[in-house]
Amino acid sequence: MSYTCSIFVLLIFLCFFVNPSLSDPRITHTTAICSNSTASIPERESFIANFLATMVTATRLVATQRYAAVVNGTGNTTVYTFGECMKDLSQTDCNLCFARCKNLVQMCGPFSRGRRGGRLFLDGCYVRYDDYSFFNETLDVQDTTVCETQDFVGNHTVFAANVKVLVRNLSVEAPKNDNFFVGFVNEGYITVYGLAQCWESVSGSACEDCLAKAVSNIGSCTPKEEGRVLNAGCYMRYSTQKFYYNSSDLVGGHNHENLSAITLAATTSALALVLIITTVVFIARKNVLRKRKGRKQLGGLLSSLYKSKLNFSYESLEKATNYFHNSNKLGQGGSGSVYKGILPDGKVVAIKRLLFKNPQWVDDFFNEVNLISGINHKNLVKQLGCSITGPESLLVYEYVPNQSLHDHFSVKENLRLLRWDVRFKIILGTAEGLAYLHEESNLRIIHRDIKLSNILLDGDFEPKIADFGLARLFPGDKTHVSTEIAGTLGYLAPEYIVHGKLTEKADVYSFGILVLEVVCGKRNNSFSQNSHSILQMVWNLFGTGKLCEAVDPILEASFEEVEASRLLQVGLLCAQASAELRPSMSVVVKMLTDNHEIPQPTPPPFINSSIGESG
Ligand SMILES: *[C@@H]1O[C@H](CO)[C@@H](O)[C@H](O)[C@H]1NC(C)=O
Ligand SMILES: *[C@@H]1O[C@H](CO)[C@@H](O)[C@H](O)[C@H]1NC(C)=O
Ligand SMILES: *[C@@H]1O[C@H](CO)[C@@H](O)[C@H](O)[C@H]1NC(C)=O
Ligand SMILES: *[C@@H]1O[C@H](CO)[C@@H](O)[C@H](O)[C@H]1NC(C)=O
Ligand SMILES: *[C@@H]1O[C@H](CO)[C@@H](O)[C@H](O)[C@H]1NC(C)=O
Ligand SMILES: *[C@@H]1O[C@H](CO)[C@@H](O)[C@H](O)[C@H]1NC(C)=O
Ligand SMILES: *[C@@H]1O[C@H](CO)[C@@H](O)[C@H](O)[C@H]1NC(C)=O
Repeated sequence: MSYTCSIFVLLIFLCFFVNPSLSDPRITHTTAICSNSTASIPERESFIANFLATMVTATRLVATQRYAAVVNGTGNTTVYTFGECMKDLSQTDCNLCFARCKNLVQMCGPFSRGRRGGRLFLDGCYVRYDDYSFFNETLDVQDTTVCETQDFVGNHTVFAANVKVLVRNLSVEAPKNDNFFVGFVNEGYITVYGLAQCWESVSGSACEDCLAKAVSNIGSCTPKEEGRVLNAGCYMRYSTQKFYYNSSDLVGGHNHENLSAITLAATTSALALVLIITTVVFIARKNVLRKRKGRKQLGGLLSSLYKSKLNFSYESLEKATNYFHNSNKLGQGGSGSVYKGILPDGKVVAIKRLLFKNPQWVDDFFNEVNLISGINHKNLVKQLGCSITGPESLLVYEYVPNQSLHDHFSVKENLRLLRWDVRFKIILGTAEGLAYLHEESNLRIIHRDIKLSNILLDGDFEPKIADFGLARLFPGDKTHVSTEIAGTLGYLAPEYIVHGKLTEKADVYSFGILVLEVVCGKRNNSFSQNSHSILQMVWNLFGTGKLCEAVDPILEASFEEVEASRLLQVGLLCAQASAELRPSMSVVVKMLTDNHEIPQPTPPPFINSSIGESG
């Protein structure tokens, strides 16, 4: 199944690049400008939630009115987000461009570093988020001019003169023409093309000011072939290539447009067919070469290609979730929000809208599709398919009916349902699922975001680990310094927070916190150094030999004291400050099932020290 999806992804992207002139969302040239201000650690969770909320709303607005100005949150964690497409793009290209733009702006690190502001310029669209209302801002100290490296080949004097005339004209015409203008100058056999646009939130005279500044800056780019000014309130570009769509072409020539559409459709289908055949032939050959071992595999691939139930259409998933209606929202993970959906055949599924965190968005998607589909374990949520043809990428999972552990913890009555034996089963199942990810699957996978809300419970309270969005293949060597720290605060291992060092022991740490939470019936408060931290509380009780006092009082006396102490001790062992001393997940499973000896834990992190000093 993974293969089918991969092939479809490949097709889409090939089509993209093979036919740039027919439909070009102008998403290849990227400039990110990040602000220096960061949210403090206690503010981050709420800042991130507000950030994600504005992006979801902005996507919806851009898809209807081509721009969005959105605010979410209160106080210090308010997020302001603005997005807009260039006015010559078609709505489809606009959606594609914005999908990429909002993912790329995460390069600035709203998640990892709590960065409170970022702008991302593509040639087809723009997005900015910040911690203050910048909507009517025209100029800013961080505005930049980006010049291509290639010099124009030809008479530089004429070229520079043409650029000068062109950009002046753009700056005069755009404010008079709904904030947007494209044009060209052709003098002395040299043609230069240009585009200028002020953002929707920037009014007439502010637009003039912004573009006047752009004109004075863009001149510094000649004699380079191409230049761009990226201002807070406007965008200007000149190039020796005609890069824009000409609206008068479209208005005057409906036939033209239809013809392009037909050509596009025909070319795309033909290309798709050729690619499918090529791929199948290629795989077939490869398999024959692999001593015909893959004959069965090929059969499977072919039949799945033809059936292709894995490739859901975007429209059908949109309908299944009532257009991603809020009432169908099951949760919000770091890698995207999850919705409940009912397919036309009545099957209930969970559908995840992916948020990509870095420029390798395609790679991430491949990872997610490839990795997860190859994985099959009773304690891991099953992936059923994907959709890649719509404006955003979607993954379809089995629906797990009994909600997440987090939901059970939010309502006292539900917590009561988690009897002692149920809690034990949840902890053991989670440990088995993680041991499989780390050690038993062919691919060693670090989950990176183990927490209550990612442990789903099925009808029999069997736990299923969800949200592999952050899972990433990691190379053969055991350690890997992450450039982008993901995950949820409060569950993050100290070495990961401080040094970005990611090993499976970071998951073991998160699992340790989860064990303490499940046994104590309390949520862990991130980093508090007082008695509110259950890690600190359990550690203190361990010191005085009264571990059982930590067990959730709801359970009253209906639990095994020895078993409870063992579980808590395993929890402490997993949450030790030293990553080396934490046991591997397979050892944890042994400790939980056999009478395997449980060593004395050493102290957890952050005891009597501030975050910066430990780890
Ligand atoms: C952000 O920090 C960098 C390095 O510390 C500095 O060079 C830059 O000027 C700062 N930018 C702003 C807008 O403060
Ligand atoms: C912020 O986002 C949340 C979640 O999407 C939403 O419930 C809330 O209404 C939004 N607040 C504002 C002020 O838009
Ligand atoms: C907002 O942040 C500033 C400085 O970071 C702090 O002094 C202030 O108390 C914060 N306000 C609120 C409401 O958290
Ligand atoms: C921008 O808007 C704010 C509030 O809406 C206003 O106070 C400010 O004067 C405006 N700035 C400009 C340059 O228009
Ligand atoms: C460039 O063109 C100008 C005007 O046509 C001419 O005066 C100049 O000599 C040319 N320069 C070169 C290097 O050809
Ligand atoms: C600027 O563009 C307008 C509209 O295309 C055109 O009429 C005008 O002649 C141009 N001016 C210059 C200086 O090229
Ligand atoms: C747009 O196309 C028309 C007709 O092909 C042409 O006359 C006009 O110069 C073009 N405008 C721009 C800005 O490229």
